[in-house]
Amino acid sequence: MRGYIRAAVFDAYGTLFDVHSAAAQHAEELGPDRERISQLWRQKQLEYTWLRSLMQRYSNFWNVTEEALDYALAAAGREDPSLRSKLLDVYRRLETYPEVKGTLQALRDGGLHTAILSNGSPSMLDDAVRSAGLDGLLDEVLSVDDIGLFKPDPNVYLLAEEALDLPRERIAFMTSNAWDAAGAAAYGFRVVWINRFEQPPENLPAGPEVELSSLSELPAVLTRP
Ligand code: LAC
Repeated sequence: MRGYIRAAVFDAYGTLFDVHSAAAQHAEELGPDRERISQLWRQKQLEYTWLRSLMQRYSNFWNVTEEALDYALAAAGREDPSLRSKLLDVYRRLETYPEVKGTLQALRDGGLHTAILSNGSPSMLDDAVRSAGLDGLLDEVLSVDDIGLFKPDPNVYLLAEEALDLPRERIAFMTSNAWDAAGAAAYGFRVVWINRFEQPPENLPAGPEVELSSLSELPAVLTRP
């Protein structure tokens, strides 16, 4: 992809920010339910975006995140308002994966524009970006909330193309979510799947061009040596 790509656009949750770091920070209180609650929270959060899209009932990603957590806590029989509020509080300032800052810096040093394109609501993205210290490393933080649609609606990917004023084939899109990789590739972005969780490929109409296990090797893929 070297030499041709002008911008690196990232999915936020699961790709830059570790969604499971919220439950990890309350590991003691969650006890043996921790992994189940964290996985179900994430799974329901995504399912609710897809279902709301089909139902044409958009609600911002923060509301969806709260509703998904309520489901996960109920499924584990842990409907505790104090635990709920602690988990939501940490979700506003999730940890990034360790290689994120160095990768963004290297891409910028290599002359690429950098951006986030996320389902996240503007205020949750703002909190997450600032608390992680990524604000100086991103040219744009784009939220689907501007159009009231979730990924993988093609109009979401169009947001990045318009904001960056670049043709789609000159934009690299990085995501750890294989379904988002399919959506972005179907749209026409050059897609790098960050397969952090060693999952098999999805059987969907389009797919990633490159697969990496973390963002560390990305500068070598996208920028000139
Ligand atoms: C996002 C979700 C899909 O950041 O992880 O858009």
